[in-house]
Amino acid sequence: MNEMVRAEGLSAVYNEKDEKPVLDGLDFSVREGERIALMGANGAGKSTLLLTLTGVLLPQKGALVVNGIPVKKENLRELRRSCGLVFQNPDDQIFMPTVEDDVSFGPRNYGMDEAEIKERVEKILASLGVGELKGRLAHHLSGGEKRLAALAGILVMEPVLLLLDEPLAFLDPAARRRLIAVLEELPQTMILSTHDGDMARGFCSRCIILRKGRICADGPAGEILACPDRLLQWGL
Ligand SMILES: Nc1ncnc2c1ncn2[C@@H]1O[C@H](COP(=O)(O)OP(=O)(O)OP(=O)(O)O)[C@@H](O)[C@H]1O
Ligand SMILES: [Mg+2]
Repeated sequence: MNEMVRAEGLSAVYNEKDEKPVLDGLDFSVREGERIALMGANGAGKSTLLLTLTGVLLPQKGALVVNGIPVKKENLRELRRSCGLVFQNPDDQIFMPTVEDDVSFGPRNYGMDEAEIKERVEKILASLGVGELKGRLAHHLSGGEKRLAALAGILVMEPVLLLLDEPLAFLDPAARRRLIAVLEELPQTMILSTHDGDMARGFCSRCIILRKGRICADGPAGEILACPDRLLQWGL
């Protein structure tokens, strides 16, 4: 299987002046088709790692290669095409006035045919159970509706690496089930941050635990999450 991600000694900071990096020398790789749950206490660095994988935050030290593309400023456009991030906060993601415009934005930006865009957008919104949101103003949506619209905007691009930051947050039980059913059908490599042990165990094959910007465990989700004492130790 091909390698989708390789990180070697990866460090990242938000401010160059900070003494301690937010991601502190991470070493890991991800094979094509894996589904990884990224877990850890609040502030452990999960969102930061997802931002770094898409080059929203550039690595400070070390090497990071995603889908064969080194994460560097000059490669960002190419990188964004193969790797899609659904942000923790949908307000950071949605910026077009209507849901339809917003979900169409990515495909339009990459020059997809208008008829195909329309078809894809309708299909993805319907699969997430929110077909009726198409014409709605994005800033009038509820938290869960916004999250689903933001997800649609990334899924519609069919990125080869799908990064989801707390995908279940804001969603009601039915919307959670629908989302998991949609994700189950996708062949893509996925890395998702979650505080939900059931999703990590049920949906992901592997779990990486972050603690204070370092990897403290990495292995099969069932094994990693089996020991309550260790989970407490890791702040979970
Ligand atoms: N824009 C920013 N500028 C400076 N520091 C930041 C910024 N965003 C996050 N941090 C800091 O980086 C560290 C890691 O934050 P991050 O958001 O990656 O944590 P997380 O694991 O996603 O937590 P949560 O479970 O709360 O979402 C925290 O100490 C946080 O305060
Ligand atoms: Mg986070």
